[in-house]
Amino acid sequence: MSRPSNLASWYALQQEAKQMGDRHLREMSNNDQRYQELSRHFDGLLLDLSKQRIEPLTLQLLLQLAEECQLSTKINDLLTGQPINLSEKRPALHTALRLPANEELWVDGQDINLGIQASLDKMQQLVEKIHAGQWRGVTGLPVTHVVNLGVGGSDLGPLMVCHALADFKPKNISPVKIQFASTIDGSQLAESLKELNPATTLFIFSSKSFSTIDTLTNAKTARHWLVDKLGNEELVLKQHFIGVSGSTEKMTQWGIAEENQLLFWDWVGGRYSLWSAIGLPIALQIGMQGFRQLLAGAHALDQHFATSRLIDNLPVLLALSGIWNINFLNIRAQAILPYDGRLKYFPDYLTQLEMESNGKSTSLKGEAVDYATCPVLWGELGPNAQHAFYQLLHQGTEAVNCDFIAPVHRYHEIEDPEARKKFQDQHRLSLANCFAQSRLLMLGDAAVPKLESDQPMPHLLYRGNQPSSTLLIDELTPYSLGQLIALYEHKVFVQAAIWNINPFDQWGVELGKKIALATEQALLAEDQQVNPEAFDPSTSGLLKHCLTTIKQ
Ligand code: F6P
Repeated sequence: MSRPSNLASWYALQQEAKQMGDRHLREMSNNDQRYQELSRHFDGLLLDLSKQRIEPLTLQLLLQLAEECQLSTKINDLLTGQPINLSEKRPALHTALRLPANEELWVDGQDINLGIQASLDKMQQLVEKIHAGQWRGVTGLPVTHVVNLGVGGSDLGPLMVCHALADFKPKNISPVKIQFASTIDGSQLAESLKELNPATTLFIFSSKSFSTIDTLTNAKTARHWLVDKLGNEELVLKQHFIGVSGSTEKMTQWGIAEENQLLFWDWVGGRYSLWSAIGLPIALQIGMQGFRQLLAGAHALDQHFATSRLIDNLPVLLALSGIWNINFLNIRAQAILPYDGRLKYFPDYLTQLEMESNGKSTSLKGEAVDYATCPVLWGELGPNAQHAFYQLLHQGTEAVNCDFIAPVHRYHEIEDPEARKKFQDQHRLSLANCFAQSRLLMLGDAAVPKLESDQPMPHLLYRGNQPSSTLLIDELTPYSLGQLIALYEHKVFVQAAIWNINPFDQWGVELGKKIALATEQALLAEDQQVNPEAFDPSTSGLLKHCLTTIKQ
């Protein structure tokens, strides 16, 4: 494919943006058809783009761009296991992880769904053993607490989903409490170890590579803590550790018993891995049935992505509206704003999914791109962010594209009618805030009728014209969360397909890992000297400061 910036539709979109100029969303939104034209439903999900600075012609041109970039062929290549991760010469097959058990997917002469289903079955056995109180530590007590040791994709996905679906704990099982420790400085682990009983604690050592220093360090500390308290290292390893990785050899080398190893494949990227055995904490939290519901929701979205016309395709539309903002309106910031406390970690999860995937500046052909790619993305629970950074959205100098995300229904399962009403009132208030904010961002102070006596005071002005998308889900369940995550995965893929970049590698994080090791050596210097040849003056200064002040 030639550069997208050389395509006729790219040029036409540039002209469209020029033509649109400073036209305010207030004007565009004054059209009764707009909501119908720019919103789409699929299976309990609603995507509304009517608060985007998009006209019918814009959408047409964006779809033309998608076609000129051969998007449909690329989607097919993704889903059928073509080796589209060119720099690592392999496919990206996270979608295969959510295939129904009776489907086949032949890649390189193998039906890969056989291995996937076998891995799910092994995971199920472990989960059921733990839930039945049959997994016992070295003292014979059943496991009650599980700590997931992992970082990046081996942490953020499971953490986000476990938090979001905490209400979906299955009844009639021994509850296990799940905690997460990722930080290399050990602060989360130190906190957990203060409270935990080693006799009833199980660690999941979760790392695709099984060589990430952050997780290795935490696992070493956990192992030391267990052996110190319980003795007998061999039994500790056997009864207090499960390993999840792409490498059996490395797990065995570290001491994980074979029966406690869950394996996944090199064609699952870390940030796309929560559907694999990396999702073990999720299955422990919501049961295997719930985990399979999560997979089913994602699969339904995969089907929609594969078969819907581009004009009705939710991930395609979400991606194209992003492309419009980034490449043609020059809006390089993206905020993720869920209006449901259970989605607290969803923005964090998306920062890795989007920025590690599409934070690239080299095309698939190895050329430097001459257009912007992934925006700076951040987010927070919307109602809390209203009291933190919304000031910038309303009156700052930056244009920001916002995604508002909310479930329509909540709390209907609460049995006590009075408590149910109280919480449903709170949910309604949250939804009202969500809609009020997106409306205000769109219209500015025109959202509120003016009194004649009102004086136009500059510091009271809301300029509006901030674009946003709204994503509503009927209710938050394992199934709908699966859909929501897959929707964003595919959005990322579509944007990468248009930018002609590889969303499945992350070479930009490798160098940092290497030089951190050399830097650690410098911090160990007994003579407290820093080799001036090895470091720049700024870093030397910091190292010297620490070497002379660190307390042993
Ligand atoms: O350093 C980045 C990264 O490689 C991510 O892509 C990945 O999710 C994370 O580290 C953890 O990697 P692993 O699962 O191999 O420990």
